[in-house]
Amino acid sequence: MKWYDEVEYIRKQAMKNNEFFANSLPMIASENVLSPLCREMLITDFHGRYAEGTPGNRYYEGCKFFDLVEEKTMELAKKLFCCNYADVRPTSGTIANLAVLKALIKPGETATVLDTANGAHISFGKYGAAGVRGINLVSFPFSNEEMNIDVDGAVKLIKQVKPKLALCGQSVFLFPTPLKPIAEAAHEVGAYVVYDAAHVLGLIAGKRFQDPLREGADVMNGSTHKTLPGPQGGMILSDHKADNEDDKAFIRKLGFGVFPGVTSSYHLHHVAAKGIAYAEHLEFGEAYADQTIKNAKHLAEALHEQGFKVFGEKLGFTKSHQVLVEIGPGKGKEASKILEEAGIVTNMNMIPGDSDPLNPSGLRLGTPELTRIGMKEKEMVDVAAFYARALLKKENPKKIKGDVKEFRKDFQELCYCFKEGFRGYDYHKLI
Ligand SMILES: Cc1ncc(COP(=O)(O)O)c(C=O)c1O
Repeated sequence: MKWYDEVEYIRKQAMKNNEFFANSLPMIASENVLSPLCREMLITDFHGRYAEGTPGNRYYEGCKFFDLVEEKTMELAKKLFCCNYADVRPTSGTIANLAVLKALIKPGETATVLDTANGAHISFGKYGAAGVRGINLVSFPFSNEEMNIDVDGAVKLIKQVKPKLALCGQSVFLFPTPLKPIAEAAHEVGAYVVYDAAHVLGLIAGKRFQDPLREGADVMNGSTHKTLPGPQGGMILSDHKADNEDDKAFIRKLGFGVFPGVTSSYHLHHVAAKGIAYAEHLEFGEAYADQTIKNAKHLAEALHEQGFKVFGEKLGFTKSHQVLVEIGPGKGKEASKILEEAGIVTNMNMIPGDSDPLNPSGLRLGTPELTRIGMKEKEMVDVAAFYARALLKKENPKKIKGDVKEFRKDFQELCYCFKEGFRGYDYHKLI
């Protein structure tokens, strides 16, 4: 019983964390909560198993049931994104990005990409996966007014530097990327277009954002746990069909990028949960994406009315699940700490013009989780009022926290998923 206290300590923190989030407003744009049926997959025997390779072509025995699960999960992914190729093995969005970089570009070659201060993810930056791969990065120009890639400048840049890859997609992602002209220019110079949909995958699958694979992206990567509310993980999609030698080689390279490139075994329980999340998104994804975006827009408008400076005003603030708020030079961190004390979980974020990621001037807010627990437009007005009390009126955060807890009482059930007990399933039979 020597280490019992340590076990108890860890269990206690996990329970406290459950309680904290159940009584708060979780508004980190990259987070979501798992449905009961996805959660069930995480405690199956798949968790302890290995499956290197592809279904029917394994380095280990014991995969016959998992092979069927992976095949079904790939089939559901292709259906959800209306495409010809899906790899559900990447263990995160970052790993999916790294796999694609491994497959499609060599060290020293050039890729065009947005800067992190303008919304790109660190995995496409010098200090992330792109840096690990040794890629020469050239920055796309950015329009602060449009909060988007400066499309004319980007086309000019691609024609000038002739990159191997044009990398699109963002972590701060208010408006769809003007992908068609960028893809046309990239293809003209022989470059592939990679669209990192980590944040917006669920909105794309719900047909409420852009459709990158139809707008010229050769590859679309993403995380499976953000606006697509599945288990933590990643995926790679393409509409290239292995029906000619070039495409066959392209698809082979993508697969080789994942294994042996950047994975060995790949968290089989998460693959099973991805399959369930895709099925749930096929059923509920359109309604969920629709409400998530409506909520973000209403939240942005309500914050603006309260007196906050919200980005993207000229274009209606947002067309995604995100809202970007300017707090003041270097003041983002302090604001996010005050909000946390008030029971509102957000993250500090760089805004255009910032150069220090540790002392940024903005906050990024997301509506995926609030939407998933049933909040709608009306509640966004109440949420904005909590922000104003905490950050503009400087009320005591502890008092606000109590009111947030009371407000949250009516929103404890997950929506847009099959419920526990669905078809009489007995949760405990699988464990
Ligand atoms: C655009 C983008 N790509 C990739 C990632 C990395 O995803 P993951 O956390 O699944 O590794 C993120 C994370 O938020 C992101 O915003």
